[in-house]
Amino acid sequence: IMEDNKKHKKQTKRTYKKRPKKLAKSSTQSELKDTGSNPLWGGRFSKGPSSIMEDINSSVDVDWVLYEEDIECSKAHAEMLYNQGILNNSDKKKIIKGLNQIQREIEDGELTPNHTLEDIHMNIENRLFLLIGDAAGRLHTARSRNDQVATDFKIWIRKAIDQSDRELQALQSALIKRAEQHSDTPIPGFTHLQGAQPVTLGHHLLSYVEMFGRDRGRFNDARKRLNECPLGSAALAGTSFPIDRKMTSESLGFDRPTRNSLDSVSDRDFALEALAAVALCSSHLSRLGEELVIWSSNQFGFIRLSDSFSTGSSIMPQKRNPDAAELIRGKNGRVTGNFVGLLNTMKGLSLAYAKDMQEDKEPIFDSFKTLSICLRAAGGMINDMTINKEAMAEATKEGHSTATELADWLVRELNIPFRNAHESVGKIVKMADSKDSRLWDLSLSDLQSIQPKITKAAHDILKPEIAINTKTSYGGTSVKQVKLQLRQAKKRFL
Ligand code: ARG
Repeated sequence: IMEDNKKHKKQTKRTYKKRPKKLAKSSTQSELKDTGSNPLWGGRFSKGPSSIMEDINSSVDVDWVLYEEDIECSKAHAEMLYNQGILNNSDKKKIIKGLNQIQREIEDGELTPNHTLEDIHMNIENRLFLLIGDAAGRLHTARSRNDQVATDFKIWIRKAIDQSDRELQALQSALIKRAEQHSDTPIPGFTHLQGAQPVTLGHHLLSYVEMFGRDRGRFNDARKRLNECPLGSAALAGTSFPIDRKMTSESLGFDRPTRNSLDSVSDRDFALEALAAVALCSSHLSRLGEELVIWSSNQFGFIRLSDSFSTGSSIMPQKRNPDAAELIRGKNGRVTGNFVGLLNTMKGLSLAYAKDMQEDKEPIFDSFKTLSICLRAAGGMINDMTINKEAMAEATKEGHSTATELADWLVRELNIPFRNAHESVGKIVKMADSKDSRLWDLSLSDLQSIQPKITKAAHDILKPEIAINTKTSYGGTSVKQVKLQLRQAKKRFL
């Protein structure tokens, strides 16, 4: 035991040096409950782990952020044990007081990770023992780290989902604001990144509002399924103590306790669903990022990103690079990787808990952090960007983008079959090309030389601003429809 403790101290010292000065002041970090090779399960072992074992096994640097959830969970568990007569009042009070102190110590940076203790749960339990003595050992009655970690992690993800929802809403609000200012600003609509038909900028921005609205829906669905409490499932089989799982479930804000103890400690669906929702949301962000990159290029010049969201080049003085937009495009790779990574970790795991599952936290923490920064950066760019209406309007005139309008007119007004109309308009486009002219610059008699029944009304429709307002179908790009969509979006999302 002496040998082992010396070794612990030595290793603690080693990691100690790597930590920042501010944290190194801590004295609480190096202390260990003196009960054998490991303070929590030393009884069965005569030797401590090899330092390589500690390195591969330790998750405390990653899961330290779960301290708040872990303490919340332990407090709820202690109250329930007391309520059920499993824990006496004096021990419960000591436990709650000790946990409150630990929370303060962590928040003040006084208590820092001890790497000889595998994870946040063991760090907290060890510290509690040092503060209150043997009563600390009663907290782990009728629970295991398996149900404990699942519960902590669910609470953390639930908060992260709620934060994402607020950040998504803020981004939607920025998009809606710009869409309102530009409900009638013409912009080319593209397919294959070739000018297709003119739309309004408001309509275009509102399409992202829809995407982010579905993302919020997905997070919300994941949250609903997640919100069942695993605490009390213990290691895998449940417990012989007369616990009240409804009580802990309620006090931790869950809808109900989980129904199967084996599933409760094996399940990481909730993490995967959240990661899938992050990945999909990030893929939407990547499309927005790509469009901002394209729109802000000199060649397009549709927008100018503000100085606060642009970077210069160390060699080319003229450059304004859209780095934030590129990064919200690029970071999609990493969060998709996080999702695929955890999906593969979980594949083929026999029931119930397996240590592989400790790999669940980094992808979640990284993905939500990444998503948050991307959502805020996207909102910032949208809020701040200068919109060049003239460049957008000019671009709608390229590529005969109103040719379909004329074909539709021939069908609508003259009852010509669409295929025939398509053919006539194709000829008109060819004529415009040969004259190096825009469709509406052809004279009425030019048009009539191909389709004699064409009138002045058809000629007008070739102008983008007029063509846009013919798209009156529900969800279409006419200014009236866009204004309706705006009203609805505000009600649905803000
Ligand atoms: N650090 C572990 C994790 O995050 C906690 C659960 C450990 N359970 C166990 N049976 N070893 O997954």
